Amino acid sequence: MKIVDEISKLKKERNAIILAHNYQLPEVQDIADFVGDSLGLSIEAAKTQAHVIVFCGVHFMAETAKILSPGKTVLLPDETAGCPMAEMITEEDVRSLKAQFPRAKVVCYVNTSARVKAESDICCTSGNAEKIIREAVGEDETVIFIPDQYLARNIEQRVGRKFIFWEGYCPVHIQILPEDIEKMRSRYPGAEVLVHPECRPEVVALADRVLSTEGMCRYVLRSEKRAFIIGTEVGILHRMQKENPEKKFYPLSERAICPNMKKITLEKVLWALEENRHEIIVPVDVMERAKVSLEKMIQYQP
Ligand code: 13P
Ligand code: SF4
Repeated sequence: MKIVDEISKLKKERNAIILAHNYQLPEVQDIADFVGDSLGLSIEAAKTQAHVIVFCGVHFMAETAKILSPGKTVLLPDETAGCPMAEMITEEDVRSLKAQFPRAKVVCYVNTSARVKAESDICCTSGNAEKIIREAVGEDETVIFIPDQYLARNIEQRVGRKFIFWEGYCPVHIQILPEDIEKMRSRYPGAEVLVHPECRPEVVALADRVLSTEGMCRYVLRSEKRAFIIGTEVGILHRMQKENPEKKFYPLSERAICPNMKKITLEKVLWALEENRHEIIVPVDVMERAKVSLEKMIQYQP
């Protein structure tokens, strides 16, 4: 039997759902029940009726799914698939920030551990960060925005306020440079440049649009334009091309590859379903506190 058929058979037997992030390998996206951004995947995980969630993404995403669906078995097919940005801040770091700024509101990017979420007031994703700052935080409240300094700076620009931020970053998105935009624009004149808000502000300043990965997919589907230069992890081009066969997509930088996202393979998805590998466990007290900030997050949809 072909591996995709084995996965589909086991998925039915175990009443499982496969969720995949937009950066996953093409063949993994193709077997998923739902492909999306961090916000869409969290919403899907919270509402699914399946007993088992196989999460094709990185650790914090699977952990988020577990917190939002504590009664389900959540499996991450490769337990070493982590997000380096999420590892740049600890719960102790958040506690010390809170001790320094006791009246501030802690807004934490979803790319963080459950323990960091548990210390925060509200979570956000790249898809709803701006909305959350505008609607969930008082105008006179001080904001501590963690851990992505670039997302923080890009949102600061959009909302016209200053935050206290942590100096974390995404090692994949910071490799995208302003000169990449100049080079690609001259190579493909007329193509629209879309970038992710984890990119450097100098890159964001030159782009036509700044969007989450789902925001990009939605935008290209509706746009009248025929060609797009995509400034985020290259895996997203598979979905864009599949959904828009008549349009052209070019990666802004071929270097933008997230090695952790590429650790999930079809073999590992099958193994996850066969052997219940690797089950995500979060301590109950952490889960309860992190759930408060995550449940607030999924109420704000762009
Ligand atoms: P979104 O898909 O939520 O835009 O996030 C990008 C990302 O880097 C996830 O790790
Ligand atoms: Fe983390 Fe960046 Fe990879 Fe997203 S692309 S999982 S932020 S390292």
